[in-house]
Amino acid sequence: MNQTTFPETSTPGGVESPLFARARRSIAGGVSSPVRAGAAVGAAPPVVARARGSRIFDVDDREYIDYLCAYGPVLLGHADERITSAVERACKDGAVFGGTNLEEIRLAERVRDAMPSMERVRFVSTGTEACASAVRVARAFAGRSKIIRFAGNYHGHSDAMIFEAGAASNSRAESRSGITQGVAGDVLVLPYDDLNSLAEAFAREGDRVAAVILEPVVGNMGLVLPGDAFLPGVRSLATRHGALLIFDEVITGFRLGFGGAQDVYGVTPDLTCIGKVLGGGLPIAAFGGTAEVMAVLAPDGQVFQGGTFSGNPVCVAAAHALLDAIESDPFFYSRLSAKGDRLAQGARSALAEAGLNFPVVQLGSIVDFMFRDGPPHRTFEVAKRADAQRYARYYWEMLERGIFLPPSQMEVMFVTAAHSDEDIDKTVEAMRFVLCGLAEGAD
Ligand SMILES: Cc1ncc(COP(=O)(O)O)c(C=O)c1O
Repeated sequence: MNQTTFPETSTPGGVESPLFARARRSIAGGVSSPVRAGAAVGAAPPVVARARGSRIFDVDDREYIDYLCAYGPVLLGHADERITSAVERACKDGAVFGGTNLEEIRLAERVRDAMPSMERVRFVSTGTEACASAVRVARAFAGRSKIIRFAGNYHGHSDAMIFEAGAASNSRAESRSGITQGVAGDVLVLPYDDLNSLAEAFAREGDRVAAVILEPVVGNMGLVLPGDAFLPGVRSLATRHGALLIFDEVITGFRLGFGGAQDVYGVTPDLTCIGKVLGGGLPIAAFGGTAEVMAVLAPDGQVFQGGTFSGNPVCVAAAHALLDAIESDPFFYSRLSAKGDRLAQGARSALAEAGLNFPVVQLGSIVDFMFRDGPPHRTFEVAKRADAQRYARYYWEMLERGIFLPPSQMEVMFVTAAHSDEDIDKTVEAMRFVLCGLAEGAD
């Protein structure tokens, strides 16, 4: 069974709505990003009208407790007043300038203070741009062409990053289409958390490898926490072979804490990519690293990288408002983690009650379980063995009970500061009901 298997739907969902059919007539595939089409659960999720706090509302004004949270950016809750008023103010002063602005400088300083490995940063609009740019910088700095990355990690949809990537990108075998053999030939894709295969790859190709890029905590093949030896091992192998280490913290940056996963795990990369949470819901991302490495960028160096909307004052204002909100509460992250703990504990008890042994994995406000037994997985191969049909039934039945989950079990649940204990308890109650039903219905 794999992610391409559609569920045999006897569920309330799994039927295309007339509005989604209309979307298909004007938007390619009905979506602006493929996972939203719900291929892994058999049909598109409801068309969304608005969201506030922990809730998302569909076009029929049905209300759901949201754990998709836009695949990660929502940290304070939807439509948080502090963000919306900062954005409104910034819009009134001009939405885009085409020149360095004061608040952009101040934001770069704040990012650098939070993540000291990012001595110099560049703002971009998306995580895809951040990762593609970091890879180009690494190649230019190292004067080498090969990149090592790990199956099931997702670094956006640039040519070099997309094949054998995680998230919903694996739902179609053709995700290699449009990518030249030349590009694919410069990328080695290895199993995650496997230092032996990394050491072998370095032994074979070491002097051609410019960089290793990875998610230090993976949020794109379910939630995968690295084994104790993995991140320090990757760090030392990369250093020994003269390759740069790039941490893709697009999910983890400012979600796990101010210092990201690199602070949690005490491993310092040469380059870091952040995005998602940074903009409080608006599109801003960044990459950065040591001053020496980042000096290859034009105008100081010869690597061109830029963007009309990069560092625009509206997204920058949203990022400041987000950082202000976090900084104003010394217990922000501990409170947020407590909500994650509550959801993870609740999920464990609901699964146990249903007699299901799926391991629940949690780190702070990221919570996940896949429909598979055994210890928590660390590779994409194992993640792909999870039961897609049962997840699809679970997805639609949870939706029916007012819970908005990711429409693919490669994605994870996110908790925000706006989720109340009551929200979480209601969610666990729904899990208990649905999981017990699924367990009874199993053969
Ligand atoms: C770890 C990681 N890196 C990069 C990206 C790409 O970010 P974006 O969708 O903003 O281009 C994502 C998106 O899900 C991600 O999860």
